[in-house]
Amino acid sequence: MSEKEPSILDYDTVTLLDEENALLIIDQTKLPGKIVLKKLKTAEEMWNSIYLLEVRGAPAIGVTAALGIYLLTKQVKVPQTDTEENYRVNFAALETEFEKQKEYLDSSRPTAVNLSWALKRMDKALLSMKVRNDLLITDVKDRLRQEAESIRSEDIEVCRKIGEYGLGLLKKGDGLLTHCNAGKLATIEYGTATAPMYLGHERGYGFHIFCDETRPLLQGSRLTAFELASAGMDVTVECDNMSASLMRTGRVQAVFVGCDRVASNGDTANKIGTSLLALAAKRYNVPFYVCAPTSTIDMSLKSGAEIPIEQRKPEEVTEMWYKERMAPENVKAYNPAFDVTDNDLITGIITEYGIAKEPFSESLRRIFDLKKKHQDSNVNNK
Ligand code: MRU
Repeated sequence: MSEKEPSILDYDTVTLLDEENALLIIDQTKLPGKIVLKKLKTAEEMWNSIYLLEVRGAPAIGVTAALGIYLLTKQVKVPQTDTEENYRVNFAALETEFEKQKEYLDSSRPTAVNLSWALKRMDKALLSMKVRNDLLITDVKDRLRQEAESIRSEDIEVCRKIGEYGLGLLKKGDGLLTHCNAGKLATIEYGTATAPMYLGHERGYGFHIFCDETRPLLQGSRLTAFELASAGMDVTVECDNMSASLMRTGRVQAVFVGCDRVASNGDTANKIGTSLLALAAKRYNVPFYVCAPTSTIDMSLKSGAEIPIEQRKPEEVTEMWYKERMAPENVKAYNPAFDVTDNDLITGIITEYGIAKEPFSESLRRIFDLKKKHQDSNVNNK
């Protein structure tokens, strides 16, 4: 009997191969045509992989950076005699390398705050071991590995909770529209915007999923449609400029999108085209939900105007995917990777701690208070 072909869902977005000092990722630029796994060993390989969108999506970038900086720091050689006496000197060597690589990895993409969030979390874990006199450098390296693995495994639980809250808003047979890829491929499991779809599919909701193609890099058709169809869902792909027509004709009951950074007032940066979708949804009374792990919410920013927006190469618009250039040689191309959706176009921001609604400045603050309470009670129970 022939063995069943593995599906994209059988592969992990990013995994640590600790013994090989490598990260294993799915090279998403090759999807859906080929499933190619790639090992990343050096800082440059990790940086390029994030920049080139081989590994992409806000949470997955954060996990890659966390596991990556662990691997790079782990390989700092300290003197054979790793004793308590020379801990301070050895720690300083580790810290120097960590800081250098942190800055470097953090520069690979500017918009998704998960990248710096994960690196800051790793930094905090490192700093907590600075003035200790009971540790060896091997303990520090172990602690960094644990922190990176926690960032990875927590992502699964966070997405599942977002999925449960999202599913609570839906009914059987709904038509759901999504943009870009905020799926399993952008996270570790479930995705964010796709989590209600995966959970609903498991529970027989029979959703009709519409995936915006998502120009210019086609994450919607290449990635979201691929993973959801692989899971057995009913999937339709449409060009980005067709989604208003779907909404106008009543085929979409809710829009679910992911995000790369949410400001404290609820303004949301996500893949370019998201704000147009939100405008159309408002016009046709279709609820528009942003699925946001709290790691993607940047409470230090007052509004979306402060979110840095990545600009990418013009060729992605004029040439990529075409047999020949599809714009005259003498024109420029505008290619921001993200846009900001104004908070008044958003029906709700679904986090792992519940759904924030207008006024977002207050509801997001409450979500973070809940998160803090939850974390404090976990510390007390240890
Ligand atoms: O440029 P990309 O492919 O990394 O953009 C990804 C998105 O815009 C996603 O919607 C966002 O990162 C959320 S992923 C859960």
